[in-house]
Amino acid sequence: MRKNIVAGNWKMNKTLQEGLALATELNEVLAGASLKCDVVIGTPFIHLASVTAAVDTKVVGVAAQNCAAKESGAYTGEVSAAMVKSTGAEYVILGHSERREYYGETSTILNDKVALALANGLTPIYCCGEALEVRNANEQNAFVKTQLDETVFNLSAEDFAKIVIAYEPIWAIGTGVTASTEQAQDMLAYIRGLIVDKFGKEMAENTSILYGGSCNAKNAPELFSQPDIDGGLIGGASLKVADFKAIIDAF
Ligand code: 13P
Repeated sequence: MRKNIVAGNWKMNKTLQEGLALATELNEVLAGASLKCDVVIGTPFIHLASVTAAVDTKVVGVAAQNCAAKESGAYTGEVSAAMVKSTGAEYVILGHSERREYYGETSTILNDKVALALANGLTPIYCCGEALEVRNANEQNAFVKTQLDETVFNLSAEDFAKIVIAYEPIWAIGTGVTASTEQAQDMLAYIRGLIVDKFGKEMAENTSILYGGSCNAKNAPELFSQPDIDGGLIGGASLKVADFKAIIDAF
């Protein structure tokens, strides 16, 4: 049975001290609570080791927001999947539209990142999603299918079983414009159908697919009540414990 997951993506926010305070407070609020979802926080690289030491990672899982496409060596400024894993983090967000758009991450690069993440025992939270022009042209299904066909759909079934998918329409990220419940459900059902075609029904039933893009305490209950929406990837609303906890409680 697939898991429900609420994952925060802090992006480039919070100093180390601020991040530690946020993670510690979240851990305190969640410890002992009976939760209907797994909770993950995606912190900047330099926070990872301190945050994993400060929280119970069984209560608050920890994710990096990226990892290198190379194993090790002369790649100044890069952080490898093995390094991420060595901090105690268990997840890595890969293919976020901000990385694709601002840092030129292509499917080829992402294939290397996914392979290295998996080889190092990290769970990729693999992002896909279309820009507004694509949505306006009603080509979002074909666009997302291509993003998946070029990357994670080439994995073996054994490896695909280890990943989480996050659909984040670019036009909904940080804009306050959430996809309607129907748009989100339709896309996630479509993605699940693609997984059926590629890997079979059982795999599709067991794959967690998240929605991201201006998800908040107000819209999360309706989004999470949909049959194919297994949780959220949360940006802005993951930066305050009360906001993030309210989304977690939406399950
Ligand atoms: P917002 O929740 O701020 O729209 O960001 C979504 C996102 O990009 C999470 O990865």
